[in-house]
Amino acid sequence: MTKLFISDLQGKEEFESIFLVKLITTMEDKSGKRYFNIILADASGDLESRLWQYSPEVEAAIVKNTFVRVRGKLNFYQGRRQCIVAQIAKVSETEVNVDDFIMKSAGDPERMYQRLLVIIDGLSDVYIRDLLRNIVTDGEIARRLKVWQAGKTIHHAYRSGLLEHILSCTELALSLSAHYRVNPNYVVAGCILHDLCKIYELTDGVTVEYTEEGKLVGHLVKGLELVDRFSYKIRNFPHYLKLHLKHILLSHHGEYAYGSPKIPQTSEAYLVHLIDLMDSKMGSLEQIRRSDSTTGHWSGFVKHLDRIVYKSELPFYPEYVDDEGHGDEHREAKRSDAAPKSAAREPSDQGPRASAKGQPDPKTSLGKMLGNFKVDS
Ligand SMILES: [Fe+2]
Ligand SMILES: [Fe+2]
Repeated sequence: MTKLFISDLQGKEEFESIFLVKLITTMEDKSGKRYFNIILADASGDLESRLWQYSPEVEAAIVKNTFVRVRGKLNFYQGRRQCIVAQIAKVSETEVNVDDFIMKSAGDPERMYQRLLVIIDGLSDVYIRDLLRNIVTDGEIARRLKVWQAGKTIHHAYRSGLLEHILSCTELALSLSAHYRVNPNYVVAGCILHDLCKIYELTDGVTVEYTEEGKLVGHLVKGLELVDRFSYKIRNFPHYLKLHLKHILLSHHGEYAYGSPKIPQTSEAYLVHLIDLMDSKMGSLEQIRRSDSTTGHWSGFVKHLDRIVYKSELPFYPEYVDDEGHGDEHREAKRSDAAPKSAAREPSDQGPRASAKGQPDPKTSLGKMLGNFKVDS
């Protein structure tokens, strides 16, 4: 049977395909009648589902993380896509192509990894350069780095998402260190190492969980162990350099309340924290745009961002509107929605959107935006 992906499902026709059960709970309606609330998933996203006929057999056989063959129909409930399940049966893992159920980074992991090595080789501090090279080229670390995701759900939560997040932060480190005239060696090192130990904190596979090490120790402290382990192998590794690297790793969550035992006290540490915050939030928004199943251009309520998110491209005017259309914002917005995607992306290629007339000062708005955010978990 050809795999039918969740993102391709539309209309109200009946369909049949194999999915992963991400969640299954037995619920009760107002009259006491039991039913199942299920979240089905595959590489393209999640699908909220209901099985209205309760059966003890289904309750016993189908648990979280099992593959199931589902026959059902798409329904729309409060603007969200919902599958009404007619039939559900367990399928063995040997019958499925596991790759169909794993969301992946849009970037090629090998190319992202090579780019990271080029950046490391370009650093001017020989001790930081050697330390990073030795860590990133370690066989098991390199293998995991190319595969692991950056978190369970919140941001970059897909295969190779950790590498994508680390590389994105590192590219920002290069440009923002130059902009703010701080030492790029530390900012790059902080961006590469800050979340690297998620390779020990999280598991790999179709569904990602916290490891015992993750629950008991966590990636901040594991990061310190990593710096110690690899710096001891480098002759005369400077003590104070190591302390500053450790400070950056310990403080990258920015606040005591978010798990950092130290708050950033150097410009380099503060910049690593801000870059991490920015990249994790932008990653979250991107993930919502990719996988939120609410119909229309608004997402459902996103708890960790404490807001709903506008998912469509913003209105864009490559040319002045003519007299007829001038001032009719609604009509023009509609017209621009139909513009080709390449044109709609153009403003970001031309520089920060905040420089446009009527937009707030970029530094003020960034400060306000970042004010109350938690980094990641
Ligand atoms: Fe972190
Ligand atoms: Fe991070």
